[in-house]
Order: sequence, then structure tokens, then C-alpha cells
Amino acid sequence: MSDVMTVGIDQMAVYVPPFKLEMGDLASARGVDPKKFELGIGQDEMAVAPLTQDTVAMGLNAAIQLFDRADKVDQQRLDAISLVIFASETGVDHSKAGAVFLTDLLPIKQGVRSFEVKQACYGGTAGLQLATSYVLQHPEESVLVVASDNAKYGLNSGGEPTQGAGAVAMLISHDPRIAKVSDVSAYHTADVADFWRPIDQEYPLVDGPLSKKAYLDFFNDTFTSFLGLTYQTIADFTAICCHVPYTKLGAKALAPYLDDCDEETAKRLSHYYQQAVSYNRLVGNIYTGSLYLSLFSLLAHEPNLAPDSEIGMFSYGSGAVGEFFSLYLSKGYGQEIQKHRFAEQLTARNTLTIDEYEALFEEKIPTKAKDFVVTNDHHDPSEYQLKAINNGHRVYSNPKKR
Ligand code: HMG
Repeated sequence: MSDVMTVGIDQMAVYVPPFKLEMGDLASARGVDPKKFELGIGQDEMAVAPLTQDTVAMGLNAAIQLFDRADKVDQQRLDAISLVIFASETGVDHSKAGAVFLTDLLPIKQGVRSFEVKQACYGGTAGLQLATSYVLQHPEESVLVVASDNAKYGLNSGGEPTQGAGAVAMLISHDPRIAKVSDVSAYHTADVADFWRPIDQEYPLVDGPLSKKAYLDFFNDTFTSFLGLTYQTIADFTAICCHVPYTKLGAKALAPYLDDCDEETAKRLSHYYQQAVSYNRLVGNIYTGSLYLSLFSLLAHEPNLAPDSEIGMFSYGSGAVGEFFSLYLSKGYGQEIQKHRFAEQLTARNTLTIDEYEALFEEKIPTKAKDFVVTNDHHDPSEYQLKAINNGHRVYSNPKKR
């Protein structure tokens, strides 16, 4: 370990389910001008999860990629996992943490802590910040943070074009090989009724216009606080990644600041923002993982940014909590990002017709089902799958049984 300890993201991996819907097809089916989705919202495709991929299965499929690629250093850090954090707002149980399933089904040593965090889309950042503090206190240990969600608003709903599904897994350790997490952070909480999901509701309740306003207000609040705390200007950032409910909204948050800064900075931040949302355009909103999918997209498309480049990170979770912090890139981070593996997942996806999408969307585990077999009717090739409900308990395939 070096004299000055740094902590942050050592490894990351992303999983998307094997089905997608083209936004043009959704626009035609809903009688909407396709330009609204392509330009007004800024989305091209939307990931759709089959019943075999609940948020635990998707989280497992993201996390196992970290174990599959283990070299010697990885293995030491993977063996050092002593805490597993599962971030989700579409978790599978009101009581039991998704992290417990992960701990059992991944090749993780016995005797770890595990729990779930929730605050809408902010959950992934809550997990990352907690993990960073934990490793600062326990430098020889690592933390696995998994952010996984299935964003569903309902067929024909206002939020339908902003759906998506997927998971991001991050290994947090000392001397991270991808990026160090900044010591300074600006954060804000306020009770806002923009998006929430009461315990008995299948889909979230959303005030669309208020949610857009709250997102932009929280960006302004936390970004200006961060600049004040660090005595920085926007020109100090190499790139800024934002939570991405849809790609147009982060661009809207940045726009007034880009109008006000020098031309070179505006051009750079705008170019890197587009790189950072290019995967999000193809996946949609994955709630807790959206900001980290965007980071992954930036790093996959720009593998040669200078060491110590500062990446601004804006996290927003409705309800609402916002946080602005930054990451400093590690030397050689580009070799750690498994771009090809993710690109293979994207291209292998089956494109659904609108009828197939609607049918798949409506497939559900019967409410209050105590016993139910989940058949793989759609030929989901993913390694981990939800197999059954046995006496109310979810059972997953266990390909890596210890
Ligand atoms: P809507 O009513 O379908 O669309 O709602 P709109 O009228 O607001 O139009 C969207 C944009 O398309 C507008 O641009 C239009 O001008 C443009 P803007 O004014 O925003 O710049 N437009 C067109 N552009 C080109 N050609 C055309 C055209 N027509 C219109 N022909 C909304 C859209 C996003 C509100 C809806 O889909 C929704 O409610 N989604 C869910 C909520 C959401 O995503 N909110 C975002 C902020 S909250 C957040 O980020 C948290 C979240 O991730 C949850 C969590 O934290 O857990 C959602």
C-alpha cells in the first residue's frame, strides 16, 4: 500500500438483460413523433428484463464478471471483500437484503456484512460513499457495491419512454485501479413529491414536470456548493457525468454553465457528456446504476484520459437527495474497463416487437404466490436466473456454487 492511501473504484462491470425495444417502435405504437424520443428525451433503445432477471439476478450477472476476470491482484482484493452493499429501489423483499443472496451465490468468503440501501436513484451513490469510508477505516478490506434496478412505469404511461433495466457492480478498495473518490462532496436533502412508490403500488407515482425541475434545482445547488467548497471552476473538470433518467436531462443541467464558460471547456464537457451517455441511450434509466453506467460509458469510449483527470459526478434520487462529488482517474484505468464484454451483451440483445414487449412487460410473478416455477420461456442466456419461488423464498440458479 502507498504512503498516502487513496480509496475508490478498483473494478466495475455492467449487466444488461437480453431484450430491448427500439424507441422508434414505441413512438409509432403510441402515436408520438419519433423525434420526441430521439431528440426531446434523447433515447434510442430501452432494455427490457424477462421474469428470469429480477434485480438480484441482474446484480449477480453484473458482479460475477468481476470474479470471472480475476488476475492475481484482483483475487486478493476479491478475497478481501468483507462488506456487500446492494442498492436498489426495485428490490425483491421488504425485509431481506438483496445483498444476502449475492453473498451466498457469488464466490465470496464466509463471514461478511451485507445489507441493502434505498433512496431512489441516489442508492448507488450512498453505497459508494459508505464503501469508501469503510475502506478508509479498514484499508486491507474491499467492498462490493451492486446497484440494480428494473425501471417500469406501466404501458402507455407518461414515464414509459424513460424505462430501462440493468445492474452495475463496483469493487471498492485502496489504491483503486479505475478512480479515486474525492474527499469533498456537496449534498442536499429536501422532501419533494416528484417521484415515489408507496409500499402497495406496483409502479411509481410521478409528477414529471416537478421531477425535471427538482433534478435541475438539485444540480444547481450541489454543483455550486461543490465549486465553493473546492475553490474550483467548471474548467477544472475534464468531464462531468450526471444521473441519467434520460440523456437530455443531464445536458439541460449542464447547458447554462457551458454557455457561461470558455469555448474550449464548453466543447470538451459537451463532447465528453455525449460519450458518457452513449450507453445510457441504448439502455434507458437503470435508476441506482444510471450514473455509474454513464461513468462506464465515458471510460469505455475514452480510455486514454490523463491520470488524475477530474470527473464531476452528479447523483440525484427523487424524493429527494442530490450529491455532487468527483473522481480522479487512475493511471491505466482504460485497461481495466471491460468494454468488449459489455459491447457483446448489447449487440447480442434480441429486439422485441411492440407486441412481444407488451406481453413480456405483463409477465409477472403472481401476487402472494408462495410457490411458483419461473420457466425460461424467452431463452434468457444469462448465467444467473430466478428459477422459482419456494414457500415465498426466491431461488436462483447457482452456477458458481462454492
Ligand atoms: P412528457 O410529457 O412525455 O414529455 O414527459 P415533455 O412534454 O416534457 O417533452 C419532453 C421533451 O421532448 C421536451 O423537451 C419537449 O420539448 C421535447 P424539454 O422541454 O424537456 O427540453 N419534444 C420534442 N423534441 C423534438 N421533437 C418533437 C418533440 N416533442 C416534444 N416532436 C417525462 C417527459 C420525462 C417527464 C416523462 O417521460 C416522465 O415522467 N418520466 C419519468 C420521470 C423522469 O424521468 N424524471 C426525470 C427527473 S427525476 C429523476 O431523474 C429520478 C428518477 O430517475 C427516479 C429516481 O430517482 O428513482 C426518475
